[in-house]
Amino acid sequence: MTEAVARPAHVPADRVVDFDIYNPPGVEQDYATAWQALQKDGGPGLVWTPRNGGHWIAVGGEHVRNLWGDAARLSSEVLSVTPGQGDALRFIPLQLDPPAHNPFRNAVMKGFASRFVVALEPQVKAVATELIDELIGRGSCDFATEFAEVMPVNIFLSLIDVPLSDRPMLREFGKQLTRPDGTMTVEQLAQAVDDYLWPFLQQRLENPGEDLFSRILSVPIDGRPWTVDEAKRLTRNLLFGGLDTVAAMLGMIALHLARHPEHQRLLREQPDLIPGAADEFMRRYPTVSVSRNLVTDVELDGVTMKEGEIVFLPSVLHNLDPHSFDAPEEVRFDRGLNAARHTTMGAGPHRCVGAGLARSEIIIFLREWLGRMPEFRLDPDKPVTMKGGTVGGCNTIPLLWDS
Ligand code: HEM
Repeated sequence: MTEAVARPAHVPADRVVDFDIYNPPGVEQDYATAWQALQKDGGPGLVWTPRNGGHWIAVGGEHVRNLWGDAARLSSEVLSVTPGQGDALRFIPLQLDPPAHNPFRNAVMKGFASRFVVALEPQVKAVATELIDELIGRGSCDFATEFAEVMPVNIFLSLIDVPLSDRPMLREFGKQLTRPDGTMTVEQLAQAVDDYLWPFLQQRLENPGEDLFSRILSVPIDGRPWTVDEAKRLTRNLLFGGLDTVAAMLGMIALHLARHPEHQRLLREQPDLIPGAADEFMRRYPTVSVSRNLVTDVELDGVTMKEGEIVFLPSVLHNLDPHSFDAPEEVRFDRGLNAARHTTMGAGPHRCVGAGLARSEIIIFLREWLGRMPEFRLDPDKPVTMKGGTVGGCNTIPLLWDS
């Protein structure tokens, strides 16, 4: 745990909680419960923690959502409560505020237009079925490391059209991102990603193809071409944005289904329910939280957050707040919520550009896994373990089935 910093004078003593977002008490056992401890007994809507340099945390669900959408007073430039991380990664479009954000966002949105996502379905399906076929005869797997973390990396490689023989290398980057082993700093990881991807990017800038990068990089920025630096920053954002987030979501869904064989049966018998189930799983199992730096003083919930301070916004505290959603912990496949109501994919101008692709990956995973695998369950002799951080989720999900 990082050293606690002193409470600034404007932070009331009764708003201080000792909470490390990277390691909330009990997170190993259950990610959501560890966060919900902050909401217990209807406490305040905003608290301040002295950990990780000292920052605010929005605890009330509606505060989380409203602050996330408030791009006029809150900036995404800082990226993280960990000092230096934002400067190392410099993501485009994520760390740009409107209006500078707009032309880049527009280019990325064009690349992810729904017709392209639909056209990718056969590739996503091929990746999923290949992985399932490798596992099916074994009767067991650690779903987190052997499926959830692998599928998004392989899809990313297909997306940007780099050689499949490079999978192990990109998987290694993915691993360093989801479960850093201390051999690389974030700066070194960002550099390694740049070094690996640069030759491909250069080709796409000079000779655009049909892949995602080419589509995005061929959209001019305010009438001029993308610079090399911007192209690298975009690539990093796509890579870091689309790997551990999808892995975390797939893991949470597999865990839910292992604990609820009645839901496995229902979705096997009525596959038409799968798209609605995917939407509900996305609402029920949020794992992403974001940091915002205040560009002006903000008065809210009886306190003043000062310009320059950081507020942390955990989507789990919005989606699972009973003031925001009816019986939020229940998984109801017919909830029929508009996806923009929950914050799993964010809110406001930075709402996830990969949301359509992510949803498609989840639907295809559910169809292929449930269509091929027999009923599966958790291994009673091995624990499920989870982690906190800006992207939480499962470290291990030991599954068993009769092969
Ligand atoms: C279930 C999977 C996913 C989840 C839960 C997720 C979540 C999020 C969230 C919460 C944000 C908003 C960040 C903020 O406001 O600070 C975001 C933005 C973003 N996501 Fe995703 N994401 C997922 C999948 C993907 C995929 C597959 C890609 C691309 C390959 C992607 C690329 C991005 C990018 C580029 C942004 C920045 C958008 C902008 O700044 O305009 N994400 N995502």
